[in-house]
Amino acid sequence: MTERTFSIIKPDATERNLTGKINAVIEGAGLRIVAQRRIRMTEDQAKTFYEVHKERPFYGELVGQMTSAPVVVQVLEGENAVAKYREIMGATNPEQAAEGTIRKLFAKNVGENSVHGSDSQDNAKLEIAQFFTEDQIVG
Ligand code: CMP
Repeated sequence: MTERTFSIIKPDATERNLTGKINAVIEGAGLRIVAQRRIRMTEDQAKTFYEVHKERPFYGELVGQMTSAPVVVQVLEGENAVAKYREIMGATNPEQAAEGTIRKLFAKNVGENSVHGSDSQDNAKLEIAQFFTEDQIVG
């Protein structure tokens, strides 16, 4: 089934000029980038986005990291896009990520892990709606 997922190319990756290389992996896996914008995430946006993690010990560091440099927010579309993107991102912790995955190739550590991807279709819809209006997504 064709579906959409939400992606963020994180500060550790934009700082190292890895946007194009990450997009090449995404497109090589058959996912289409149907919306994309480079932004400086505000503290409010980062806090809202990661609200589910607000009781976790790494929350403050996470918000700090996500607002430290520009990010690229994206909508990806394709067959089983949520699961497919999670597969090509690899495990959250790059030390556990499979060969050839984005995090194995590029991530520095669990906090600076280069990309975010939605973990379910429901969250994908919510995350996309935080950053894009429907008319900005061109499938
Ligand atoms: P992400 O998919 O963006 O969702 C939550 C983020 O928290 C995760 O990727 C990691 O970058 C970050 N994070 C930082 N420390 C940890 C940790 N110990 N366990 C899980 N996630 C962490």
